[in-house]
Amino acid sequence: MRVLVTGAAGSIGRVVTLGLCARGHEVVGLDLVPEPEGFTGDWHTVDCADPDAVTAVFEAERLDAVVHLAGHPGEASLPTSLTSHVVTTAALLDAMVAHRVTRIVYASSNHAVGLTPRRELRDGAPLTADVRPRPDTFYGVAKVAAEALLSLHVDKHGIDAVACRIGSFLDEPTTRRALSTWLSPDDCVRMVEAALTAPAPGYAVIYGISANTRAWWDLEPGRALGYEPLDDAEAFADDIPDRPEDEDEGAHVGGPYALRDVQRPALGD
Ligand SMILES: NC(=O)c1ccc[n+]([C@@H]2O[C@H](COP(=O)([O-])OP(=O)(O)OC[C@H]3O[C@@H](n4cnc5c(N)ncnc54)[C@H](O)[C@@H]3O)[C@@H](O)[C@H]2O)c1
Repeated sequence: MRVLVTGAAGSIGRVVTLGLCARGHEVVGLDLVPEPEGFTGDWHTVDCADPDAVTAVFEAERLDAVVHLAGHPGEASLPTSLTSHVVTTAALLDAMVAHRVTRIVYASSNHAVGLTPRRELRDGAPLTADVRPRPDTFYGVAKVAAEALLSLHVDKHGIDAVACRIGSFLDEPTTRRALSTWLSPDDCVRMVEAALTAPAPGYAVIYGISANTRAWWDLEPGRALGYEPLDDAEAFADDIPDRPEDEDEGAHVGGPYALRDVQRPALGD
């Protein structure tokens, strides 16, 4: 497949780009910043929120699919978050419809459901993908809105869209929470490839975590698309020290983002 990877210079983007190339796919990179050293494919230094710039990329390239990772992975004002996650997704979807590109894999986030209290996970059962959105921040609100935009385009334009609610993408888990939320680099590549190649998923939401013994999220929606994670954060459990903040961070699935002191006005600085 010839795949446009947005945010290709970022921490997930660099891993996904290398991983997809190693699995025989061709990657076209897009980012606000120039290509990382060693990247040899086509590259577009472009703001994904600029629809004319995104259209020019689709006019210049033959593409089979899009992996949309570009965006600021943290809290910001509501307008900034909407531009970073929703407007960028809209610019890509418009270009996909116009150029008949029919598959998008989207980096959504666990923060779309982050204010779900852990005590509501019945008998320790992981959170399913069909629960009501419960964002913990404006970042989470923007991810929910981006998922809704994908759903609209699946229904109106017949594209296939897989929203991957990523947990904690890290080389290794470093906190108690991450024992539940970790997504290893290798599993991340497995997840993205499965989401790219699953036959006709329509609109699907999956949780982007490894096969963690203490998982808070349901892996079955991902498995239904062929995502078979192989890593488990439990292998690191003995090396992770207890911290005073662990209990508060474990109260909601969004962890630190769900804490009361992570709040700001929706508008303005
Ligand atoms: N890292 C995680 O654990 C995690 C968890 C959940 C969701 N996500 C999501 O995954 C995606 C990638 O996250 P990351 O950790 O690699 O972040 P990152 O900050 O390392 O990388 C993001 C990349 O996107 C680029 N970018 C940002 N806005 C852009 C724009 N408008 N146009 C073009 N490029 C733009 C940045 O330059 C950067 O290279 C984000 O959408 C993030 O919200 C990440």
